[in-house]
Amino acid sequence: MSGDVRIELPEARRDSHLRTDGPAISVSGLDKSYGSNHVLNNLSFGFDRGKVYVIMGPSGCGKSTLLRHMIGAEHPDSGSVLIDGIDIHSPSRKVRDEARRKFGVLFQSSALLNGLTVAENVALPIQRHTDLPQSTIDLMVKLKLELVGMGDALDKYPYEISGGMKKRAGLARAIALDPAIVFYDEPSAGLDPVMIGVIDKLIKDLTSKLGITSVVITHEMPSIFRIADEVLMLFQGRIVFRGTPEQLRTSNDPVVRQFMNGDPEGPINAPRQLSELSERLIGPGLRKMNDE
Ligand SMILES: Nc1ncnc2c1ncn2[C@@H]1O[C@H](COP(=O)(O)OP(=O)(O)O)[C@@H](O)[C@H]1O
Ligand SMILES: [Mg+2]
Repeated sequence: MSGDVRIELPEARRDSHLRTDGPAISVSGLDKSYGSNHVLNNLSFGFDRGKVYVIMGPSGCGKSTLLRHMIGAEHPDSGSVLIDGIDIHSPSRKVRDEARRKFGVLFQSSALLNGLTVAENVALPIQRHTDLPQSTIDLMVKLKLELVGMGDALDKYPYEISGGMKKRAGLARAIALDPAIVFYDEPSAGLDPVMIGVIDKLIKDLTSKLGITSVVITHEMPSIFRIADEVLMLFQGRIVFRGTPEQLRTSNDPVVRQFMNGDPEGPINAPRQLSELSERLIGPGLRKMNDE
């Protein structure tokens, strides 16, 4: 099966859709250490199609690492990630590409190229993965930019637009090839509350209107309650909670409670270190205030 394989539009579209009735994403026994830092600890879970899944957890708990493993950007020490039943870490490049075509990714930075206009940025993946004529690509780009409310900004350069617009352009690029799944790494980072609401609505709409499965990493509590069908909380490389936003709200798990309440004291380590640090710097007064 070597040589040039020309992908026509209908095939490209069909490829990006989910074929099996099984889970959209299936993670099993995923394990990863960096030296002595055991970041992903035997993680197993499945995501159904057409829902919004939120992955949350304290800084450094392994959310981005998990995402990199799910999109095949990094190889696990052991375990597997199946995208629509296809191994994203397969030794076969052809198999990996097949899995890769099923999803788009919106990175935290939006990752737009500054030398290209918004429209040219969105066109990139279509040009790379299809042989469609430019006139068709232009139409697809316009459609995707209109979907995210950016129909007027085709010819703008990334440095000419706001952070929220960059996010939306990045999203248009992530969905350029009609993926069945979209991964988002902290889509609301650095945005004001109104723009966060706009992005949340887009994630919700894309999921319901296009039947996309969305996997969103965020700590933004209002977002979680607005968008999530299910929430997974990651802590010390394990999933310590999985449930609906309502179950999250009423969970008695001490890690979940500390995170939700923003308590400086509790099982999550980093804030404890921080309060010990502040105690050393400004004396026990602060600790006393916290205890009261
Ligand atoms: N490429 C890497 N090499 C070494 N350590 C890493 C690497 N990527 C992440 N880590 C470590 O793994 C842990 C989890 O990081 P990360 O997944 O970025 O957390 P989060 O996204 O939840 O904030 C951190 O302790 C981080 O220092
Ligand atoms: Mg991260």
